[in-house]
Amino acid sequence: MPEQNTALWLRNRFARLTVGPAPYTPPGPGEIVVRVRAVGLNLVDSVSGVLLGLVAPWLKFPAVLGGDVAGDVVEVGAGVTRFHAGDRILGLALGLERSQNRPAEGAFQNFAVLMEHMVSPIPETMSFEQAAVLPLQLATAATGLFQQDHLGLALPTANPPERPETVLVWGGSTGVGSNAIQLARGAGYRVVATASPRNFEYLRTLGAAATVDRNSATAVDELVAAIGDSPLAGSLAIGNGSVRPVMQLAARAPGTKRVASAAPAFVTRLQSRGAKRLGVQVSGIWGGTLKDNEVGPAVFVDLLPAALATGAYRSAPDAEVVGHGLDAIPAGLKQLRRGVSAKKLVVTL
Ligand SMILES: NC(=O)c1ccc[n+]([C@@H]2O[C@H](COP(=O)([O-])OP(=O)(O)OC[C@H]3O[C@@H](n4cnc5c(N)ncnc54)[C@H](OP(=O)(O)O)[C@@H]3O)[C@@H](O)[C@H]2O)c1
Repeated sequence: MPEQNTALWLRNRFARLTVGPAPYTPPGPGEIVVRVRAVGLNLVDSVSGVLLGLVAPWLKFPAVLGGDVAGDVVEVGAGVTRFHAGDRILGLALGLERSQNRPAEGAFQNFAVLMEHMVSPIPETMSFEQAAVLPLQLATAATGLFQQDHLGLALPTANPPERPETVLVWGGSTGVGSNAIQLARGAGYRVVATASPRNFEYLRTLGAAATVDRNSATAVDELVAAIGDSPLAGSLAIGNGSVRPVMQLAARAPGTKRVASAAPAFVTRLQSRGAKRLGVQVSGIWGGTLKDNEVGPAVFVDLLPAALATGAYRSAPDAEVVGHGLDAIPAGLKQLRRGVSAKKLVVTL
């Protein structure tokens, strides 16, 4: 096994990301070590300073960030039977989680430790670049839709019944939204989603039955009309400023008044003032919590392996490779902060 590893380190909250040597950490029970071949970039990886203190106040330094991994299995820990050295996989890297909080589990390094039940094999036909698109955005969508403390919806199955209820996805062309549309459809719900009009066709290819321009002054009215008398099973608020219009929508449309927000907890708290008056319940999603309940294995163990292999589940949006090597990640994160539309920035290692 390799003794030397290299990582992209965050030495403290205010430091620049720098590449340097890192220990090679062997897998513990229920863990695997992966030679990382591609990483996806997420907004949370680009947060630093005071904001990082608000988003992840528990984080110990030096830290290795990154949530999205695709690569080859190098070693498996005790009790792991689903994977062997050489398997091609994708997985959610959980180094930033309060319960894990260790650099060995961050994505931005050559050898990362992953929890076996948050990993899925990928088909030969899927590139590492495209596989690295999925983990955190998929996990966040699944947490919001299926966890009992959020929308608590029925889980996806291979042949779901067509349900009479609607799931609203505000921010359908975000990576989180792209996964939410597919997951909700995979559970049999009708989906109504918002995006910019240039992405309407993309949303339909993912399974949305109706689309509304998120920038329209009458977006909430249009959504109420699109939902019609197919009651809401729940609503996801994804993207800046989405909580307020989604609360208004949930208050007016028939069905459940539950809203799950993908914004950081402190933003959700601020933006959901007035929820009680509207009769709406708002919860804030943290995309790693599914590792501790039935939702994580339902998605990464039960759903994804077969659904990716048959093409029933797409890795969406499309990957855009913005560089190679750990030292390409900071520039990629800068590009991400400037904004992307219906694509995912990826760096190969
Ligand atoms: N809570 C968690 O654990 C967690 C985890 C991951 C992400 N997130 C959050 O979830 C959100 C989406 O993340 P992502 O990585 O999926 O985003 P992303 O893919 O980078 O989002 C790009 C898309 O955002 C859309 N967009 C831009 N501003 C928007 C707004 N104000 N309202 C709705 N959509 C907007 C654009 O849609 P159009 O071009 O169609 O307009 C664009 O397609 C972010 O706020 C992120 O911080 C939370």
